[in-house]
Amino acid sequence: MEKKFFDFIIHGGDYNPDQWIKTPEIWDEDMRLMKLAHINSASIGIFSWSMLEPEEGVYNFEWLDKLMDMLHENGISAILATPSGARPAWLAQKYPEVLRVAENGIRNEYGVRHNHCLTSPVYREKVRNINRLLAERYKNHPALKMWHISNEYSGECHCELCQQAFRDWVKEYYHNSLDELNDKWWNGFWSHIITDWSQINSPKRRGENHVSAMELCWNRFVSESHISFYENEIAPLREITPDIPITTNFMRMHKEINYQDFAKHLDLISWDNYPFWDKGYNRDEAAETAFVHDVFRSMKDGQPFFMMESTPSNANWHEVNKIPKPRRQALAAIQAIAHGADSVQYFQWRKSRGGHEKFHGAVVDHCGHENTRVFREISRLGAELEKLGDVVGKYSNAKVAIVYDWENGWAIDHFCGYNNVERNYVKECIKWYRPFRDKGICVDVISADGDFSKYNLVIAPFLYMLKDGLDKKIERYVENGGKFVATYLTGIVDKDDLCYLGGFPANNLKNVFGIWCEETDSLPKGMKNKASYAGKDYDVVHVCDVIHSNGAEILGKYKEDFYAGMPAVTENSFGKGKAYYVAFRNDDDFAADFCKKLIDEAGVDSDTEISVPQDVFVRKRGDCVFIMNFADCEKSVMLDKEYADLINGLTVSGEVTIPECGYLVIK
Ligand code: GLA
Ligand code: ZN
Repeated sequence: MEKKFFDFIIHGGDYNPDQWIKTPEIWDEDMRLMKLAHINSASIGIFSWSMLEPEEGVYNFEWLDKLMDMLHENGISAILATPSGARPAWLAQKYPEVLRVAENGIRNEYGVRHNHCLTSPVYREKVRNINRLLAERYKNHPALKMWHISNEYSGECHCELCQQAFRDWVKEYYHNSLDELNDKWWNGFWSHIITDWSQINSPKRRGENHVSAMELCWNRFVSESHISFYENEIAPLREITPDIPITTNFMRMHKEINYQDFAKHLDLISWDNYPFWDKGYNRDEAAETAFVHDVFRSMKDGQPFFMMESTPSNANWHEVNKIPKPRRQALAAIQAIAHGADSVQYFQWRKSRGGHEKFHGAVVDHCGHENTRVFREISRLGAELEKLGDVVGKYSNAKVAIVYDWENGWAIDHFCGYNNVERNYVKECIKWYRPFRDKGICVDVISADGDFSKYNLVIAPFLYMLKDGLDKKIERYVENGGKFVATYLTGIVDKDDLCYLGGFPANNLKNVFGIWCEETDSLPKGMKNKASYAGKDYDVVHVCDVIHSNGAEILGKYKEDFYAGMPAVTENSFGKGKAYYVAFRNDDDFAADFCKKLIDEAGVDSDTEISVPQDVFVRKRGDCVFIMNFADCEKSVMLDKEYADLINGLTVSGEVTIPECGYLVIK
C-alpha cells in the first residue's frame, strides 16, 4: 500500500521568523542557510497570534505574506499552523473565560501557553475567526502544503463552563438516567447516590477522586473536548481549503487525550519525538522509540506519519540536558523513516535570542552561521534523505499486533488494589514488543477496537478492561485460527470499571483460555516468586495470578509460596487457534524466550534475511532495508546478498562495519 502527501521526505521544522521581525537580514540569511541544510519545509505561525492580531480586530498579515512568498521562492513548503496554542494578552484580559481553571478551582493568570479553556465559546469563536482569515488569505498560495493545528493539545480545565459541559456529557452518556449513572458508578458505595445532575463535579483532590468510573468519564470527556475544540478549529479550513491535509502534533504516549480516537479526525498523524539519548540506556530508549513510532504508524492502519519535531542537538527541559553524541540525531531520524515516518522535522530552526527556549537545540545556533557540528550534521542528513525518496508513502506489512489501548491505560491508572506502585502498562507492552523488534519482525500496535483478523498473532498485555463485545471478538479471533496471548489481570472490568461477575477472565474467556483465575497476588519491591518454563526459572515480580487449568495445557508452574505447583503459563487450543495465558510479570527474559515459541507457532518471520547483532536494529520498509546501530561501539553485520547502498551509491555485500550511531539503507 502507498499513501503520499509529498514525493520526497520532508526535512524541516519549527521556524519562528516573527521573533526576528526587526532584523530582515536574518530572514534572508535563513533562506540561504535552509538551502545549505537541504531544508524543504518550514512549520510556521505556531505561536504567532499576537503578531497576526495585535489588537482585537486589527490584523497584520503582511509579514506572513512576505514569509510565505520567500519560502515559495526558495522551494520550501509551508506547514502553516493555527495559533490557538498561545494567545495574545489582550484576548485574555478582555475575555478572562478563555483562561484555564486549575484543578484547585483557581483560574490561571495570563501566561505560558496551552492555557486555554476547552469549552469557552468566546475562545472557540476567536480561534475560528483567526483560522478563517488565515485560510482565506493563503488558500491559493503555492507554499501552503499542510495545516498544523495548534500545538501539542493537552491539559484540562475545571471552570464552570467545563463543569456544565461535563455534566451534560455524563447525562448523555448515561441516557439521561440518574439510575443508570448511580448503577454504573456504583454509588451505593459510601452513600454516594446522586439525585440531581448538578451534584456532579470534575474529579479533584479536595473533592471526588475515589470513583474510578467517574474518573474514566472525565478522561473521556476531556479527550473528546480536545477533539471537539479541534473540530471547531478546522471547520473553516475544511470549508476554504478542502485539499490541504490537516494534522496536529501529538506527544510521546501522552495520556490525557485518546490519540487512537483523535486519529480518526486527522488526515495524517504527526508526533514530536524527544528521546533521552546517551544517558546510559540507549538500547532501551531505541526500543521504546521504535514502539512509539509503531503506535503512531498503526493509528491510521499503517499510513505513514510525520515526525513533526525532534531536537537537532539537546533539549532544554530535561533536568540535565546532555548533548547527544555526534550523528545520534541522524540515527534517530533514520529510525523514524524506517518505522514509517515521511518526515524529519526539528524544533527548532534557529535558537531564539530570549524567552524560555533560548538554550534548546536548533539547527542554527546563536553564532548565526553554518560552521557548527550540528549544522553540518543536519545538512549531511538532509542530503541523505534526498536519496531515500523510494520509501515515501510506503506501508509495512505486520502479521503481529500488540494491543495498547488508551482507555485500558486510563482504567489501569485509576483502580486501587493489587500492586498500586508498579502499574507499568506502557512498559509491559514494550516488553512484549521488543522480542519482535529485535528480530526485525514488523509489529503493529493497535487499540482494543482494532481489527485482529489481519494478524497471525495478537498479544494483549494487561488487558484489564474489556469494553463491550471485546470478549466475543477475542473468542471469534481464536476460534478462526488466531493466536492470542493474554497476561495477568486480564478481563477484569467493563467500560465503566465494574468487575465482571462469575470469575476471571470475564465471561467465556475462561473457556477460550481454558483457565480460571481465583486470586491475584502482589509482590512488594524486592520480593520475588519463581516460575519455571521450558527448563528455565524466571523471577515473578509485582503481580501474578493464581490460576487453575480447566483444560489448558500447563507450560509453566510457580515454584514458591502456597501456590507453588500451580500453573503460571498455559496454552489452550480453541477452535482453530490457540490462546496463551501468562499469569505473572517478569522483568528479564521471559517474554523474549516465550516469543520464540510464538514466532514459530504463529509463522511470523522477519521481513529480511539479514540477522543483526544485539543493539543493531533492522527494519524493512517498502524494498528498503534499514540497519541501524544503537550500540555504543561499531558493529559488523553479515549481509545475505548483494545490495545497493542508497546513501553512498555503492554496492555492498558480505560483512559490513557500521560505526557507532551509523546506519545503512540498502535495497
Ligand atoms: C514541544 C513543543 C515545542 C517546543 C519543544 C521543545 O514539543 O511543541 O514548541 O517547546 O517541545 O522541546
Ligand atoms: Zn473551562
